Amino acid sequence: MHNWPGLIEAYRGWLPVSAKTPVITLHEGATPLIPVPSIAERIGKGVRVFVKYDGLNPTGSFKDRGMTMAISKAKEAGCEAVICASTGNTSAAAAAYARRGGMRSFVLIPDGYVAQGKLAQALIYGAEVLAIRGNFDRALDIVREAAEKYPVTLVNSTNPYRLQGQKTAAFEIVDALGYAPDWLCIPMGNAGNITAYWMGFQEYQQGVHNHKLPRMMGFQASGSAPLVYDTTVDNPNTIATAIRIGNPVNRAKAIDARNASNGAFFEVTDAEIITAYQFLSCKEGIFCEPASAASVAGLFKRKDEVPAGATVVCVLTGNGLKDPDCAINNNDAAFHTNLDPDLDTVANTMGF
Ligand code: F0G
Repeated sequence: MHNWPGLIEAYRGWLPVSAKTPVITLHEGATPLIPVPSIAERIGKGVRVFVKYDGLNPTGSFKDRGMTMAISKAKEAGCEAVICASTGNTSAAAAAYARRGGMRSFVLIPDGYVAQGKLAQALIYGAEVLAIRGNFDRALDIVREAAEKYPVTLVNSTNPYRLQGQKTAAFEIVDALGYAPDWLCIPMGNAGNITAYWMGFQEYQQGVHNHKLPRMMGFQASGSAPLVYDTTVDNPNTIATAIRIGNPVNRAKAIDARNASNGAFFEVTDAEIITAYQFLSCKEGIFCEPASAASVAGLFKRKDEVPAGATVVCVLTGNGLKDPDCAINNNDAAFHTNLDPDLDTVANTMGF
């Protein structure tokens, strides 16, 4: 069986690396594009729907794509420590790749608003975790200033290498389908990923591939929708803590991507996110984190606008195991506890 070398080796010609760049990789990328027939059936009109399950990356989110590039380039530049602000996934990826590259990592997180799995990752990968009494937007302000004043390299998506790595997800979709989808549905927080996908689809088209470009459909949670309403949100709030961001740093680039692609931004409520989250798990066997389900929630919400026969890809940015509390608190499972340990009781409970 072929051993996938990681996205830098796989797409070297498309990335700003040279023979001198030390490649720090966990063999990220090559995530599956999975057909989701029960979602397609709900949309109807002969539409084909796939999910790009980026929760299967080594640390469980799409951030690994950006981090292999950011950390490799930081290493190439001789840097010894990196810093980021994070709602959780960036911190997990930064911590893992920094350690693999022999560097320290400092991560600022909003105290109390990072899902358990992500916090566990940052700690076990050996990050130095600084939880602030403030939200992500405040943490990002602080780390940007810190990176100017101190010898630490910023690995948030303001670091251009992050988006370079993340654009490879678009390449993989085109490689898998043979063309680009008509719609690309994607959750937005700091809006780096939608920017990276758009860059990827465009660059691949201008290279060897002659595919059409997708409409970029970006979705935000209602309590945290600065791009939908063209504003900033002082106190963003949503069950999807990954995208609990009120002042996206890549705002202008995301708006360009939307306008150039004839795309659109819409909000989805927390209830709609949870419905899509449960649908993906129960009907398709795919467990993503709540922020990721915003892409499917958005597709459900805007289904009347999907053209007949279209191909749609929803990006599932993170693994469901990142946020076990959300799953435990939002399911319709039959969970029978405190049973007597005998067959009669068990069979009875099973309804036999
Ligand atoms: N989905 C997940 C699971 C995320 O973790 C994030 C962002 C997004 C979507 C939104 O991506 O910011 O590029 O628009 N997480 C960042 C973090 C903010 O710190 O992990 P975006």
